[in-house]
Amino acid sequence: MRIIVDADPGIDDALALYYLRAQAKAEVVAVGTVHGNVPVEVATANALRLVERLGFDVPVAMGAKRPLAQALQTAEDVHGPDGLGGVAGEAAAKVATEKSAAEQLVQLAREQPGELNLLAIGPLTNVALALQIEPELPNLLDKVVVMGGALNVPGNITSQAEANFWHDPEAADLVLGAGFADLTVVGLDVTMASHAPGEWLEALPQDCYPRRFLRFYADFYESFLGKAGFVPHDPLAAAILLEPDLATYVEDRFAVELGGRYTRGKVVADQRFLAPGSPFGRDIAPERTTAKYAVDVDKDRFLEQL
Ligand code: BDR
Ligand code: CA
Repeated sequence: MRIIVDADPGIDDALALYYLRAQAKAEVVAVGTVHGNVPVEVATANALRLVERLGFDVPVAMGAKRPLAQALQTAEDVHGPDGLGGVAGEAAAKVATEKSAAEQLVQLAREQPGELNLLAIGPLTNVALALQIEPELPNLLDKVVVMGGALNVPGNITSQAEANFWHDPEAADLVLGAGFADLTVVGLDVTMASHAPGEWLEALPQDCYPRRFLRFYADFYESFLGKAGFVPHDPLAAAILLEPDLATYVEDRFAVELGGRYTRGKVVADQRFLAPGSPFGRDIAPERTTAKYAVDVDKDRFLEQL
């Protein structure tokens, strides 16, 4: 499976790239970066380090510096000041391409229509910008898997909203409404249920790089959740792209709350108990195509793979 990764590395983004490197059926063809966990310049430097370290011979394109409609906000408290838990180290020799991440996504999708899959594990600004360049993008990509949202569980960055959608709600709403034929959303409903316990981390070889970059993230999660370990949000999205049967889904029409005193950035769907043919029409995004939202996961199978 040929995959374009759009990411904000970011510790769990880094682990997702490690995961993809180890999966024979995954072929990463390009990486785009976006603001989110850290400023995009930092995310880009990390993406370059990671592709170099992992031996991916692929272009890295720097993406959006800021969300579509709100000020930039980052999350160094979760990922460390350098976005890799304080162990980013030397800059890579490799440099980013001239193109933006949105331009790269559009160009690759046009060159290989129907052949490429998109794994978007940061805020969706680049994908929204790509849709502005190429409104046909939904017909040019094969599968799209997005990490974001909290449908029937609490948020993580606010009480209601998940971080990737909250970092750019307008972009997330555009992408959910863009008409991608095969769109899967992997939110906190399944990522929080896939918590990797302290023993998982302890089982990694002492000096391996993931063990070092995961330390900061695990300390954050221990203070957040009160138990040792961490939440592998982005690796789970990568795994679900490769093996959709790791999860079960509800299929519905989704939107992202753009107002809301408490709910800005929250993913929403009309989940009322409406009888088939009911005269009460759906009031959330009835005009949109449907997406699959993951609601249950085989955590043991996933953690074993990871
Ligand atoms: C998402 O936000 C970031 O902290 C992670 O990298 C992940 O993509 C989880 O809410
Ligand atoms: Ca991420």
